[in-house]
Amino acid sequence: MITGVITSAHEKVRAYLKDGGIAVDATSGQGRDTVFLATHASHVYAFDIQEEAVDATRCVVDAAGLTSKVTCVCQSHAAMRDIVKEPVRVVVFNLGYLPGGDKTLTTRVESTLIALKQALIMLEVGGLLSVSVYPGHKEGKKEAHAIELFMASLPAKHYVVMKESMLNRHHAPYNVFVYKQSNPITH
Ligand SMILES: C[S@@+](CC[C@H](N)C(=O)[O-])C[C@H]1O[C@@H](n2cnc3c(N)ncnc32)[C@H](O)[C@@H]1O
Repeated sequence: MITGVITSAHEKVRAYLKDGGIAVDATSGQGRDTVFLATHASHVYAFDIQEEAVDATRCVVDAAGLTSKVTCVCQSHAAMRDIVKEPVRVVVFNLGYLPGGDKTLTTRVESTLIALKQALIMLEVGGLLSVSVYPGHKEGKKEAHAIELFMASLPAKHYVVMKESMLNRHHAPYNVFVYKQSNPITH
């Protein structure tokens, strides 16, 4: 049963990891997405700028017995291309701030756009980028607008871009999925 954006994103992502593959969790937070990815992927690189989030992620990953499948990185996702040197099957962004944490430490337009561009370069042909967007707070609204402009500009020859949103809830979170069909030559 789909109960929200995250369960829906996981449903999509699961299909892309059915034969394993490398995954990136661009915002590891409390580690729930990381554990989900590590259950299905061959290996996961999990990024967060907050030491507290990285510790929380390590904790749940260890508890799930997935330690050897996860590399936790306490750095911005804007650095992902410097750290992950192999082709990636799935990249997941669950934007916003750490639930119950400091709301000022939220994802921001500038670094999010840098990271999304890197993610598209790093993705294998046939891979999936999944972005859960939260327009219900001020920075999230700015971020949502910038993401939609960027996503709409991607060449349809190389990328299929889809938005999944709720029609019966205002300012609800939503998902954007990008399927990489072929490699643009520009990088
Ligand atoms: C909504 S939470 C992620 C939830 C998480 N995926 C989970 O399953 O618990 C968003 C996270 O993004 C992190 N974040 C904010 N800016 C970031 C950046 N530039 N690079 C990486 N993580 C960032 C925040 O610290 C926060 O933990």
